[in-house]
Amino acid sequence: MKLLVTGGCGFIGSNFIRLMLAKHPDWSIVNLDLLTYAGNRLNLADLEENESRYTFVQGDIRDRELVLDLLDSSVDAVVNFAAESHVDRSINDPSPFVDTNVGGAQNMMECARQRRIGRFVHVSTDEVYGTLGRDGKFTERTPLAPNSPYSASKAGADLMARAYFETYGFPVVVTRCSNNYGPYQFPEKLIPLMFLNACADKPLPVYGNGMNVRDWIYVDDHCTGVELALTKGLEGDVYNFGGDAEKTNLEVVKTVLAQLGKPESLISFVKDRPGHDLRYAMDFSHARRELGFAPSLDFTHGMQRTIQWYQDNPEWLKKVQSGEYRTFMTSWYEER
Ligand code: NAD
Ligand code: DAU
Repeated sequence: MKLLVTGGCGFIGSNFIRLMLAKHPDWSIVNLDLLTYAGNRLNLADLEENESRYTFVQGDIRDRELVLDLLDSSVDAVVNFAAESHVDRSINDPSPFVDTNVGGAQNMMECARQRRIGRFVHVSTDEVYGTLGRDGKFTERTPLAPNSPYSASKAGADLMARAYFETYGFPVVVTRCSNNYGPYQFPEKLIPLMFLNACADKPLPVYGNGMNVRDWIYVDDHCTGVELALTKGLEGDVYNFGGDAEKTNLEVVKTVLAQLGKPESLISFVKDRPGHDLRYAMDFSHARRELGFAPSLDFTHGMQRTIQWYQDNPEWLKKVQSGEYRTFMTSWYEER
């Protein structure tokens, strides 16, 4: 199978490409990535050097001509990971989120439709459902009720996918996953940011009272879910994935500190994120039943593996902290 993967230089996309090429000797992958601040070609530099089944193309999912060119008759399927992915940045400036996450996703679907591509997996998120109270879980039938510009833009693309299926019979499958963690996650997100700050004995900024709950899944388990949606998913269907590991943010931060042997006195409660969703939890029984999906790594072991990876890769961490990264971090956290 030949795949066009978008956003493959980001966190989940790079783990997905690595895992799929290792698992499937007969697959080849073209990775289309714009290399925004969050994309890093180094994530897959070893594959670029040694793997003939991997090709990198720098470019924009909004570029109609380029995407049509890449989708030649040899491409069997598309997996669309590319997105602006950070909620806090979407609060600062929603425009790039609408442009890439709605416009870019629609351009990818339109090009794939014109080229009659047989399978299109659109990677979405649990955040499109909005927030839960203390009880219950999101199912695929939970109404979409996004609360941040990021999640609204992802919901926009999900609705476009639905419309493409209903209107054109476009062979799209949508996946919605909970919070990922693991190697190569950009250090603006909770776990790698807390790792960096703890290592430097700097305060760990916890929004509000730290009681917001996320359902954490190790990145390889999400990648396996996407693989299952690609190979077994029903056209027009939506699949929830989760890790069955609900944790408050405070629990997550304390886990990072404990693994590093750092004191909890580093925790600093700061001004809350506006529109901060209280709780996410995924009912993934549909994916379990139809695709055979189940998370394989529990939170304790996943966190050990993740923290170890960051400890083993200080050069990677140093390289991704560009000038742009430092400017955003300074202005966002100064206000809190
Ligand atoms: P990321 O920010 O680490 O990576 C995004 C990648 O997309 C980067 O490599 C970036 O360069 C690329 N990109 C951005 N705009 C582009 C454009 N216009 N054209 C081409 N490439 C572009 O994100 P991630 O955490 O790896 O998330 C990947 C996908 O998974 C996103 O669609 C996100 O919404 C979804 N998702 C993420 C999580 C999570 O916990 N991180 C959970 C569920 C779903
Ligand atoms: O749920 C899936 C989503 O998970 C993905 O769709 C998004 O792309 C991904 O970024 C992630 O969104 P979150 O907003 O949940 O992730 P983040 O790591 O930014 O925050 C996790 C929780 O930690 C959230 O409740 C906010 C809190 N937080 C985050 C940061 C960066 C803090 O308390 N302090 C922080 O400094």
